[in-house]
Parts: sequence; structure tokens; C-alpha cells
Amino acid sequence: MGTSTSHTSEDSATATAQQRYDRQATLFDLTELPLELLVLKGLRRRLWGRIDGQIVLEIGVGTGKNLPFYPAKGRVVALDLSPRMLRKAVTRAGSLGLRPDFVLGDAQHLPFHDGAFDETVSTFVFCSVPDPVAGLQEARRVVRDDGPIKLLEHQRTSNPLLGWLMDRVNPFAVRLTGANINRRTQANVERAGIQLDSVESEKLGIFRLMRGVCRQGAVVGA
Ligand SMILES: C[S@@+](CC[C@H](N)C(=O)[O-])C[C@H]1O[C@@H](n2cnc3c(N)ncnc32)[C@H](O)[C@@H]1O
Repeated sequence: MGTSTSHTSEDSATATAQQRYDRQATLFDLTELPLELLVLKGLRRRLWGRIDGQIVLEIGVGTGKNLPFYPAKGRVVALDLSPRMLRKAVTRAGSLGLRPDFVLGDAQHLPFHDGAFDETVSTFVFCSVPDPVAGLQEARRVVRDDGPIKLLEHQRTSNPLLGWLMDRVNPFAVRLTGANINRRTQANVERAGIQLDSVESEKLGIFRLMRGVCRQGAVVGA
């Protein structure tokens, strides 16, 4: 007879993701520095230059690399799963003189009511969320009707050779960093019922700036 437990596989995958990010919080900014300076910083600036909501949710704030780009007006709520990543973000906000509201929480079960935000933003997060479609559906739930969901993500390239390589390397990347480098995040966004009205691809389609809208009445998958 099998044993019954209230622990689901999603719970354990989420706990593992949290541990992986807690573990790398101290060195996260340093290890990403070259890529940050060469590519990511410019993409962040592009994304955040388009944020104009009064109440904005950043999902997966990490160590707070987006904080320097936060809009001067309005309020940002910044959520992350990893207490140690979040602590780094709190310190960074203090040094920048910013006071967003920080929340420890899970993107797959956002602790906010329906339509609480004018828009949601995330950068390089849905490669790590164990159930990305559930997380994206939550982003959709907490944004107001017709509100935008803005994402900057990396994903599997459609280049056949590089895509093949990303598939081979992915198990090691996940164990080392928590990030799946071969996720098809744009497809996941669409599966979550978010209607994309803009997608900009960079670097062989690996980096994507996406803007979608959320129509609360729309049927997911329709
Ligand atoms: C690669 S880091 C990106 C951090 C930050 N957005 C950036 O651009 O530097 C991924 C972040 O997503 C967070 N994360 C992973 N799974 C999550 C979940 N289920 N809910 C909330 N945050 C999550 C991790 O803790 C980590 O801080």
C-alpha cells in the first residue's frame, strides 16, 4: 500500500529551486557580471523604459538588478521565492534610496487578489519556476483586465545546432544554477492564455522581450 503525503512534486521542485537560489545568492551578481555588462543591462533598460503602471508587480526580483531602472513614479511590489536573493535586493534598494515593497512568495501561488496590479514585469524568471505556465497564469490573474504583462526571458534558440547543444547542457545548467536554458518560454506564455502583442528577439532568439495582455474573460488555450 502506498503512503499518502500532502507533499506534491511541485512543492518539492519549488523547495529545490529555492535552495538553489539561496545557495548562489552571494555570488550571483559576480558570476553574471560579464553577461550583464555585455547584453542583459541594455535589455533591462529597454524593458523598464516601457513600464508606466501606477502599481507594478515585479515577479522574481532576485538580487534587485532591475532596481536602478524602476520608474520614479508609482509603487513597485517586488516578490521572490528565495529569502537570500530577496535580502540582497533589500540591501541594494537601501543603497539606491528606493523603498519598494518586498514580498517573499511563490510565483505559482501569488499572495495577491485578482487584478491587484496595473502591470506585471519579470526578467529571467520563468526559466526557473518549476511550473512556468502556472506562474504565468498567476501573473495573468493578478493584473487588471487588459493590463500588460512584460517579460524579458531567455529561452531555447530555434537555431538547430545551438538548440541541440542547449538541450544537452540543460541538466547541468539546472543543477548548477536553477535555470533551464532550453525552455520554450514564449510558447509557455501563450499556453498560459496571455495574448502576445509584441515579441522582440535578440541573439539568435535566445533573449526575448515580450509584451502580452490579459483579458480576464478570455478562455485559456482558446
Ligand atoms: C535567474 S534569477 C533572475 C533574477 C532577476 N529577475 C534578474 O533579472 O536578475 C531567477 C529568480 O527567480 C526566482 N524564482 C524562481 N522560482 C520562483 C518562484 N516559483 N517564485 C518566485 N520567484 C522565483 C529565484 O529565486 C531567482 O531570484
